[in-house]
Amino acid sequence: MPNISGNEWRYVKSALDDGWVSTAGPFVDRFEREFAAAAKVPHAVAVMNGTAALHLCLKMVGVTSGDLVVTTPLTFIAPVNAIHYCGAAPKFIDVDPTVWQMDPHQTVRYLREECEPRENGTFDKTTGQRVAAIMPVHILGHPVDMDPILEIAHELGIPVIEDATESLGAWYKGKPVGTLGTFGCFSFNGNKLVTTGGGGMITTNDPELAKRAKYLSNTAKDEPIEFVHGEVGYNYRLTNLQAAMGVAQIEQLTAFLQRKREVFEVYNHAFADLEGFRPMPEADWCRSACWLYTALFAPESRTLLHALAEEGIQTRPLWQPIHKSPAYPTFNALTFPETERIAQQALSLPCSTHITEEQVNRVVEAVRRVITSPQPR
Ligand SMILES: Cc1ncc(COP(=O)(O)O)c(C=O)c1O
Repeated sequence: MPNISGNEWRYVKSALDDGWVSTAGPFVDRFEREFAAAAKVPHAVAVMNGTAALHLCLKMVGVTSGDLVVTTPLTFIAPVNAIHYCGAAPKFIDVDPTVWQMDPHQTVRYLREECEPRENGTFDKTTGQRVAAIMPVHILGHPVDMDPILEIAHELGIPVIEDATESLGAWYKGKPVGTLGTFGCFSFNGNKLVTTGGGGMITTNDPELAKRAKYLSNTAKDEPIEFVHGEVGYNYRLTNLQAAMGVAQIEQLTAFLQRKREVFEVYNHAFADLEGFRPMPEADWCRSACWLYTALFAPESRTLLHALAEEGIQTRPLWQPIHKSPAYPTFNALTFPETERIAQQALSLPCSTHITEEQVNRVVEAVRRVITSPQPR
């Protein structure tokens, strides 16, 4: 549930009163500036959602038809869709079971052993496809272990686009996510820590790339009066109305992050003694944004999901692993054991930033009761 308890009404009303409802208007610039300051990123370009951000970044680094993009199968489907929109295909790397994120060592091994450098890039030796980008997805608020990935990417000249859509506020070895690769992408979908209803942000350390993102997301308009467009662009801009809400939300980022961590700690503590319970880890090289409270409840999270639903408590499994998705039948025969195991056992518990102590306690009691009661045979 979104937490609308700041200046949202006031700023949206001001945008309505001023008549700036569409993609031009003062809140868009202000949201970009204030987001950049709050997320500690040098440049931020607002777009209409996280998927558009990913798509545009893939385009900007030159991903094109027939290419491969290295990514994880344990994710919401959007990054793989964005790769598909470019005519490229994902090269899936299984997750590291200790942090549930794309395994950096398997990534390096793939690029070193199964690919070869050629004059115009790095190519998969089996398929002959060019590896045009690496897209690590920082799932559930926790960063990917980026250093080995960044090192090999730098060595081979492969651009890295961070899908940080679920991890606003997370830090990797003292640096905020979204600043580690060529581009970072964020989402302000209704389920995200900061929401504008729908929205996204592209971040980069390079001012020229930020300008290019702005240009391409604004239909590559060279001349606004005569409607001259320098190339094929995209209408991926965020509206001023949404940006007004974004400004109000980003003002509350610190408080939101703090509340998420409090809820995490209560749950972790409350379930610590339960057999078969494994909380989502937080590696000592990072600070998680704790976006979603997801834990492994071995052996079957779905039993717990149904039992809690009967008590009126809504929980969610993780995503169907993308290599098993009917949307991508070419990958259905592949196996990624860690991804599949985590997807099978994981359950996300209620953890919105305005959840009350009473509601958290109710969830704790119900989970404990279901898990510790004897199972019918
Ligand atoms: C990992 C991941 N990538 C991309 C997206 C896409 O963002 P949006 O819904 O804003 O298009 C989402 C979620 O919504 C996501 O969870």
